[in-house]
Amino acid sequence: MNSYNLKKIDLSKDEAKEEIARLVAEIEKHNELYYNNDAPQITDAEYDALRKKLENLESKFPELTAKDSPTKTVGAPVKNSSFAKVKHKIPMLSLSNVFDREEVGDFIKRVRKFLLLSGSDILEIFAEPKIDGLSCSIYYKDKKMLYAATRGDGKIGEDITENVKTISDIPQELPSDAPDEIEIRGEIYIRKDDFLKLNEQQKEQGEKIFANPRNAAAGSIRQLDPNITKTRPLKAFMYAIGYTSRVDWKTQQELHSKLSEWGFVATENTKLCKSLAEIIDNYQKTLEDRALLPYDIDGIVYKVNSLEYQERLGFISRSPRWATAHKFPAEQAETILNDIEIQVGRTGRLTPVARLEPVNVGGVIVSNATLHNADEIKRKDIRIGDHVIIQRAGDVIPQVVRVHKERRKKDSSPYFFPNRCPICDSPVKREDGEAAHYCTGGMACKAQIVERLKHFVSKAAFDIDGLGGRSIEEFYSRGLIEEPADIFKLETKRADEIKNMEGWGELSANNLFKSIKSKRDIALDRFIYSLGIRQVGSATAKRLASTYKNFEAFRKAMEKAKYKDDLCSGGGGCGPEEYRRLLSIEDIGPSVADEIITFFEDRHQMEMLDKLLKEVTVEDWQDIDVTGSPIAGKTVVFTGKLEHMGRSEAKTKAESLGAHVASSVSKKTDFVVAGADAGSKRKKAEALGLKLLTEQEWLEIINNSKNS
Ligand code: IVH
Repeated sequence: MNSYNLKKIDLSKDEAKEEIARLVAEIEKHNELYYNNDAPQITDAEYDALRKKLENLESKFPELTAKDSPTKTVGAPVKNSSFAKVKHKIPMLSLSNVFDREEVGDFIKRVRKFLLLSGSDILEIFAEPKIDGLSCSIYYKDKKMLYAATRGDGKIGEDITENVKTISDIPQELPSDAPDEIEIRGEIYIRKDDFLKLNEQQKEQGEKIFANPRNAAAGSIRQLDPNITKTRPLKAFMYAIGYTSRVDWKTQQELHSKLSEWGFVATENTKLCKSLAEIIDNYQKTLEDRALLPYDIDGIVYKVNSLEYQERLGFISRSPRWATAHKFPAEQAETILNDIEIQVGRTGRLTPVARLEPVNVGGVIVSNATLHNADEIKRKDIRIGDHVIIQRAGDVIPQVVRVHKERRKKDSSPYFFPNRCPICDSPVKREDGEAAHYCTGGMACKAQIVERLKHFVSKAAFDIDGLGGRSIEEFYSRGLIEEPADIFKLETKRADEIKNMEGWGELSANNLFKSIKSKRDIALDRFIYSLGIRQVGSATAKRLASTYKNFEAFRKAMEKAKYKDDLCSGGGGCGPEEYRRLLSIEDIGPSVADEIITFFEDRHQMEMLDKLLKEVTVEDWQDIDVTGSPIAGKTVVFTGKLEHMGRSEAKTKAESLGAHVASSVSKKTDFVVAGADAGSKRKKAEALGLKLLTEQEWLEIINNSKNS
């Protein structure tokens, strides 16, 4: 049964008015968080429950229903967006929801009644998985992609054309039989396995970790730089049409075939159902297989198959009468919260983690869940010893949905977020407007030191082979390293100790020393990133490096930028000027700028930096010069197994030489590098008469290029 359905409402009109206002404000807040910030604070089920409550109240008191009530609108208006706005030719609507068999039955009955179907008339329902991504509308004119837009408030969305062009599931041109003008709609998403890889990569590079595949897809499509979007594993399923200058399909099923013919990927695992029993059977089967699907789905969408019927049925305010979404229950389980542990990160940020009695949630054993921050614990009143309902959001990171308060012990007491760091006992502080608490211990905090050292040797920083997280912890606890500079003194000062340590020995110790030695020269952007300045991930470090070109210039500029409020007496590089220059860098706002300036003001940090600079050489930034590259501007496809470098390395290399790397072979491909066992792509390239290169020839190109 649907537990969100409040069938009995005994509120007076005044009470209802107040409750409606409260619900509207609450829903609008969550719309904003979900649609514009990609940072939802409540689960889909909690959100649906709020909407349902509001709908019920509004149906009881229609006179209290505002014209722009969230029950009549879609999404959230686009605010503070850096993207241009696009008006959809036909509004992008939402779907009504149903939660159980009875409500699906009501939907079918309503449709049959509306169409005046008799008992013997068959009503075909096309069932498709509801993809948990973000919707997008792509407008083609004269067979060419003109623009792509997010849903926004349904009428006006954000222009994400350049980013959508990086998605290979979406063609930029349509074949000659497609209508001259057409809006094609669907869902952009990220596969579960790609999501895990992306997060790993983000972690290595010190960038934002996404909570689930949907947020990762939304964050990736909203990048201001399409080159970043291009590196994200975005995919797309198409399932609907907005405006079209011609319709030559009679059913939703035929539309799907058309979409595939035109080069899109239409939603898979669809089913044409002819009875309620078939619909429910398909729902149950999909629910059982849900965990096995490579992407997240959050329900099944039922669409009346016949287009003629769809047109007759039309719309009711925000959603079509001819379709509805049968939502899946979230994968939840109840367990006991044994403890709340506070983890301290590299930047001193305190993250509360729930230690749970292990429990099976939709096939996965869960023993930890994120609690996000102190506000979240307070809002949900989570206490140690509580029975909690946990859920795997987006099927991946578990979170605590709510507390089972009836089962709470009488002597339980609210959780107090610590005001001292659990590792170093320094006071904890919280900046205005920030949700997170930070340990103020800096380099006096063991957790921060170790996490910073781990960051220092990580892949996107010094990338020291053989020195993983566990070795850093061990070396630190044995007093072999305390700060980055010590890593470079290990060979001369602590070699014997390491060789005698368990699991090490002569050979691995020498290998470690060799790899440390090979990293003494470092690129400027990696070096800046390695310093672990708060909010400076590898993308920001790169931008800083390409602006200041060498480390001393960067440091001097930051030392001046702290005098941002001084009067400028003219002449180059005074405080306010340097500060403005820093702020003019893409993605650097006042808060990132202040973090960087504060870092260079910190005496302790500067002492460590000076010691480190005695050990390493920071190379000046080299602007990429592709003039000498024979592959600049060319489109390259790699296929088959390369012996000398992995696919991603080959791709990065080709891109650094100014080439565009495509995943499939077409007439636009300039050449194909075919490694061992190259299959269909090689054949296609031969058929198209394209230039084929062996791996050897490819290596010669890169070796002869200026930037190799
Ligand atoms: S049809 C007018 N089909 O769900 C009907 N929507 O909650 C348009 N969605 O806005 C929607 N998978 O973003 C449709 N197979 C599917 C879908 C789907 C996901 C999304 C879409 C829509 C939202 C409604």
